[in-house]
Amino acid sequence: PHPEAALNLDEIEDLAKGLLTRVAYAYYASAGDDEYTFRENSYAFKRYWFRPRVMNRVSKVTTSTTFMGYPVSLPVFICPAALARLGHPEGEVNIVQAAAKEGVAQGLSINSSCSLDEIQEAKTSDQTLFFQIYLDRNRKNSENLLRRIEKDGYKGIILTVDSAVPGKRERDMRAKGDFQAPATGGANTNGTKGVAQAISGYQDPDITWDDVAWMRSITKLPLMIKGIQSVEDVEKAYKNGVKAVVLSNHGGRSLDFSPPPIDVLYELRQRRPDLLNNSKFEVYIDGGVRRGTDVLKALCLGAKGVGLGRPILYGNTGWGEDGVRRVLQIIREEVETGMRLLGVTRVEDLKPEMVRYMGHDPA
Ligand code: FNR
Repeated sequence: PHPEAALNLDEIEDLAKGLLTRVAYAYYASAGDDEYTFRENSYAFKRYWFRPRVMNRVSKVTTSTTFMGYPVSLPVFICPAALARLGHPEGEVNIVQAAAKEGVAQGLSINSSCSLDEIQEAKTSDQTLFFQIYLDRNRKNSENLLRRIEKDGYKGIILTVDSAVPGKRERDMRAKGDFQAPATGGANTNGTKGVAQAISGYQDPDITWDDVAWMRSITKLPLMIKGIQSVEDVEKAYKNGVKAVVLSNHGGRSLDFSPPPIDVLYELRQRRPDLLNNSKFEVYIDGGVRRGTDVLKALCLGAKGVGLGRPILYGNTGWGEDGVRRVLQIIREEVETGMRLLGVTRVEDLKPEMVRYMGHDPA
């Protein structure tokens, strides 16, 4: 079918599921242990309901905003995700080109299946492309990579910290299959314990906040810390001079029963509202976002932007670059419609009093 045939992100996942190999779908879909966090990431959004306002002159809306100071067309960014070539031969090149055309920010994974040279060919100099790393047990490798990233013109670094080790992902472990290590990562084993185990061997479980200071001594690029799962660690990031965090549990792929990021954001709003809408600090979230209304709820509670992980991989699987663009267009239209029906015409006018929490108190 044509990309336009898909009306929402779940339909795009259904289409991709029919196209992916068993090993690839198991890797993309898998999450930790019994996948409670994976499911709850999405369900949690359903506990927040709107308090819409009407008759607010909403014919003209704009979804423009900024991501780490860079102008973007949508408060939605593309999460770093490994191995886009499992879904489509052009892999991450499709995603980078779609992001440029749609004017959205992206984090490119260190575990991408396309090489740095291939991405360099594909990207434009003005797109908001960040590079996501895990620190290598051998810091010299990380240092060389950080220098290359800066030289290649990436706009910033995302350090992912929620995967000291990969979670126990049984779907992935069961599917196994021989597996070729990706172009940019440090692994060279095949997937006898699943794809995730095969590509993560170089990641250092012993990183600490001191490594953030070390990274700053190597590169001047702006830094985001991705994978913060508690208010205490948001405070720690802020105290360590970090400019931005992504509240994330890796799409449920790491610790099962890590809380949904929207609930961590809500707790942060209650306990430290000063860290939200703060000119020196930005808070992003990802995990389980499948509707424009999910995006709007997070923005009302004070998130600067919201990330999409699996839906992008599924769009790429179905139609390559056009599929990734379709995912972003669906979300863009849903965000615009939601803003109009909420009575808001600018992203910065989304406010905490426009949502109410309907469940038990997560804080
Ligand atoms: C990821 N994620 C991820 N994160 C990261 O920092 N580096 C990476 O290499 C990867 N790789 C990866 C592969 C696959 C297949 C998935 C599904 C996810 C996590 C990702 O950035 C993001 O946090 C979640 O995917 C967000 O949740 P949703 O949107 O998938 O529900």
